[in-house]
Amino acid sequence: MSKSVIHVAVTGAAGQIGYALLPRIASGAMFGPERKVFLHLVEIPHEKALAALQGVAMELQDCAFPLLDGMLCTSDLEQGFGDCDWALLVGAKPRGPGMERNDLIKENGPIFTGQGKAINDFAKKGCRTVVVGNPCNTNALIAMHNAKDMPREAFSAMTRLDENRAKAQLAEKAGVHHTKVTNMAIWGNHSATQYPDFENALIDGKPVADTIADRAWLEGDFIKTVQQRGAAIIKARGLSSALSAANGLVDHVRDLVNPTEKGDWRSVAVPSDGSYGVPEGLICSFPVRVKKDGGYKIVKDVDLSDFGREKLAASVAELEHERSVIAELLA
Ligand code: NAD
Ligand code: LMR
Repeated sequence: MSKSVIHVAVTGAAGQIGYALLPRIASGAMFGPERKVFLHLVEIPHEKALAALQGVAMELQDCAFPLLDGMLCTSDLEQGFGDCDWALLVGAKPRGPGMERNDLIKENGPIFTGQGKAINDFAKKGCRTVVVGNPCNTNALIAMHNAKDMPREAFSAMTRLDENRAKAQLAEKAGVHHTKVTNMAIWGNHSATQYPDFENALIDGKPVADTIADRAWLEGDFIKTVQQRGAAIIKARGLSSALSAANGLVDHVRDLVNPTEKGDWRSVAVPSDGSYGVPEGLICSFPVRVKKDGGYKIVKDVDLSDFGREKLAASVAELEHERSVIAELLA
């Protein structure tokens, strides 16, 4: 029996990430080579943005993707999220040079109240929402609180780009292909306080320290490079990451709809269930495993050292601070 067409809403569809993301979704990279997709392309109701969106839609049409069942362009949230299976919330302002991601919170946070409510009211009951727009953990918290009837587990924020960055850095230092690096957990916030956990990562199935003996590099340059990679790209490109961000989102969703390989895990920012002392409800990045039935579980038995716990605590403190700044947006 052929599977139903999957409806995917993408906000900020005329933006940089949208441009790199939409062809990946339409060509099957996210939901597989047998699943047709219908795209809901959502933008702000501004003439320039909507004109650009029409251009993107024309290009998608001109790709003649076999898996693209159709698309709509809109700035209306009822239409945008109506009956969608996935809501990918990319649309938000990116930071500029010299800014931290949470400098965007006052401007971007309010976007996610209306979108959370619209997802609640118009999306399919099983709709899953991923937030990419920064600061993504706290924006996901806002969307989740405003989507009162949706299960909390349906909301996540993206730290997969950080996981991919961390794998690439370890692989380069070890002189191995990045596919040899597994169990790469990002803990905490998608920010400069995140903790890329080299102590529990594996290279070729063995602890990282067996291949990279330089602990000072792991504690210093490695962590800093991953934490600051977004800023380094902004400095180099004059624009924030887009193709790697779109790729991170493809990986994030694909790995939420397929069971995780035995023994491995993925980094996903999800509502805390209190694990590792992270206050319940905060959207925090954890190592996560996806089960055969499609649900996920935070991996409970990761041995976090005192060093790791200290790093996680600093990132959680930042998340709590962000939550206090936008407290009035949490319905
Ligand atoms: P961009 O400026 O190129 O595009 C953003 C688009 O969003 C624009 O077209 C804009 O009109 C649209 N938009 C703004 N508000 C909207 C709303 N309320 N509804 C619908 N559309 C809206 O930016 P970009 O480079 O595509 O980045 C988008 C966001 O993703 C930024 O906040 C950026 O910081 C973030 N980001 C996150 C990660 C991550 O790893 N989590 C990685 C890269 C970028
Ligand atoms: C990234 O990590 O590349 C994005 O969050 C963009 C940014 O502001 O760093």
